[in-house]
Amino acid sequence: MTGTPTTGGGSITITLDGTNRKVTVPLLPGSIGPSVFDIRKLYNDLGVFTYDPGYGGTAACDSKITYIDGDIGVLLHRGYPIEQLAEKSTFLEVAHLLLNGNLPNAREKAEFEAGVLRHTMVHEQLRRFFDGFRRDAHPMAVMCGVVGAMSAFYHDSLDINDPEHRRISAFRLIAKVPTIAAMAYKYSIGQPFVYPRNDLGYAENFLYMMNAVPAEPYHVNPVLARAMDRIFILHADHEQNASTSTVRLAGSTGANPFACIAAGIASLWGPAHGGANEAVLKMLAEIGHVDNVKPFLETVKDKNNHARLMGFGHRVYKNYDPRAKIMQQSCHEVLRELGIKDDPMLDLAMEMEKIALSDPYFVERKLYPNVDFYSGIILKAMGFPTSMFTVLFAVARTVGWISQWKEMIEDPSQRIGRPRQVYTGPTQRDYVPLDQR
Ligand code: ACO
Repeated sequence: MTGTPTTGGGSITITLDGTNRKVTVPLLPGSIGPSVFDIRKLYNDLGVFTYDPGYGGTAACDSKITYIDGDIGVLLHRGYPIEQLAEKSTFLEVAHLLLNGNLPNAREKAEFEAGVLRHTMVHEQLRRFFDGFRRDAHPMAVMCGVVGAMSAFYHDSLDINDPEHRRISAFRLIAKVPTIAAMAYKYSIGQPFVYPRNDLGYAENFLYMMNAVPAEPYHVNPVLARAMDRIFILHADHEQNASTSTVRLAGSTGANPFACIAAGIASLWGPAHGGANEAVLKMLAEIGHVDNVKPFLETVKDKNNHARLMGFGHRVYKNYDPRAKIMQQSCHEVLRELGIKDDPMLDLAMEMEKIALSDPYFVERKLYPNVDFYSGIILKAMGFPTSMFTVLFAVARTVGWISQWKEMIEDPSQRIGRPRQVYTGPTQRDYVPLDQR
């Protein structure tokens, strides 16, 4: 292999050892962050593919939406730091930013909010869909099914090549996913569904649909509504993570956006991704007391044991996840508002963080708390059952998914996603009749 990569353009020439076959691979710069080698011609010119299981070294697309510098713990949406957005913005403003590329002016903000809030109700027949689920179904299972079923209800916005259809589908998804999430919860506890109220803010309306009952008035605590809104902001997008890549891959085939978001929800469900916040709380409950932290850490460090310190580590962040810091602050605010002076779970988590961050195993591997380490504690304090944690993540991430999907569909160079493989199975052989096996 010859050639010196530069960061601002340039190329690298790769020669296949023992042959005279070579290819010059251009280096494409991003606006910030590492450049990438454009290897699209590699197979044609050299007859080889690249090998990158888990895609740790592969950029699958161009994107202008989110930038992460994992080494220093930076997260930007359309250039704006997450800390500023979490402090000064609202979830719907961030949604506008992610979808359309700019912070809305007053008129755009009002129009966008009205557009989303007008779509909060679901088709009345969709309600009956819930009756097919067992009451004890995991709400993520219900979310996968019902969000996927949206494509059977909203035929009038399924033409992915029509910008107006894409716009309406985006509004429908951002508006209706919280309604479906609240319905999944109400169904699981046997309470009647609560219709959305469009006079309330986005997070406020969600808390209303979750907690109100038809029999009595319900007032949403504004501090909790603001905390919920901030949690939604923190989870809104995170560039090409597993679920977003799933949405892009599904969308690359031309599948409709409702089906693509359902695929994203399925991908988010796993404990290595969105399911981690639920897993963190289970882990803390099992550990139970500060005295048990050190022995527990020994088990996650043991290579013969598959246990992991949930809420720690990240594929991209090799430093503190900036969202985890904000989440920890929010946690204190919410507990104060709820009059919870001492939360043993929070104390345990903070102690655990302290011990882990001074342990060489975690230090050497650059394993820091991720967004999920504290989110479970705050959500539990707000009264959400653990089974709903990943659902809340899905509600927020719907904005990122649909923004990434829209960006992909609007990219003229977009083509179907189709990774390759190194085949390691049997070479060609003849079929063996049953009596000779
Ligand atoms: N606990 C203990 N050891 C860990 C952890 C952990 N949480 N995370 C990584 N490691 C170790 C690995 O065993 C490996 O050690 P080794 O080099 O001795 O083999 C090393 O750190 C590197 O880990 P990888 O598995 O290569 O890291 P990867 O990028 O593939 O995984 C992941 C990232 C899945 C997030 C991982 O850190 C993990 O499982 N964390 C716990 C689950 C979690 O919190 N997920 C939420 C992620 S954030 C989100 O989705 C919102």
